Amino acid sequence: MKSRLHAHVGTIRQLEILLAVHDKGSINEAAKALFLTQPTVSIQMKKLTDAIGAPLYNYANRQLVFTDIGLELVKTAVEVLDSFARLDMSLGNIKDFKSGTLRLAVVTTSKYFIPHLLGPFCEQYPNIDIQLKIGNREQTIERLKKGVDDFYVFSHPPVDMDTESIEILRNPLVAIAHEDHPIAKVKNLTLKDLSAEPFLMREKGSGTRYAIEEFLKQHNAKLNVKMTIESNEAIKHSVMSKLGISILSAHTLTYGGQSGLARLPVKELPINSHWFFVWSKSKRPTLLAAKFLAHIETNGRALLQQEMIKTGISYNQTNK
Ligand code: PGA
Repeated sequence: MKSRLHAHVGTIRQLEILLAVHDKGSINEAAKALFLTQPTVSIQMKKLTDAIGAPLYNYANRQLVFTDIGLELVKTAVEVLDSFARLDMSLGNIKDFKSGTLRLAVVTTSKYFIPHLLGPFCEQYPNIDIQLKIGNREQTIERLKKGVDDFYVFSHPPVDMDTESIEILRNPLVAIAHEDHPIAKVKNLTLKDLSAEPFLMREKGSGTRYAIEEFLKQHNAKLNVKMTIESNEAIKHSVMSKLGISILSAHTLTYGGQSGLARLPVKELPINSHWFFVWSKSKRPTLLAAKFLAHIETNGRALLQQEMIKTGISYNQTNK
């Protein structure tokens, strides 16, 4: 069974008084050092003795001599107060953003732009830790339900949860094929033209798949799903290997190369979704999380806009 002794020791302040009595070797001197009256110190020592249930010190020749039990308690008091001193320092560091952890859980497709937000923030606060979890939409929703992270990034945030969010960036989903595929030579495609082609689809639980399925429902259209693949990169490489065509976020194409790939000019595309930063309303934000949110709100869009312009994804207008 766990010890409950600490529950009997009145306060940390009593341990502090005990240490002063031990250091000074006298109740009187301890009282002076602590700017307390002598009876106050005596009463606190009596309370502590009662809590421990044995004398902490005796008097020999009018000298205060600590018992073995008293000395054990002094040792513990030093450790406890040292721990508080360390806590004080850590809290100070957290308040000054010299330490602390920012926890993000983001859907796989957003990993392409998240580092561009984190980079400048970490430059400003170089001693903080970042924990970045990457999963598909379903896995990220599970983390949001458990409330483990400070922020979540989705293009389709769950609607049935008590969250707040800010929109941060466009996320156009575009159709791709191998550049030698006959379909890549056609100028004006429609969704119907894609339906016969072997289609490479993300796995169940993926936000990309969710967006595609919602889009197909709206257009009363169907695709010929031939393979289910759990990663954007693997889909890209499969398209490059002529295994089929696909629809992916334009963000996935701009990083890691797109040689051998052609974007298809499909009339109904792109699927126009957006990235959102999401957080749970019931979770009190840490100081670091609040700082990061301010960073996203003040600098985030501009930073991403610059980055998107560099990589060729238009930020504001429809991206065809
Ligand atoms: P995914 O998420 O990585 O689960 O496909 C992308 C998205 O939400 O758009």
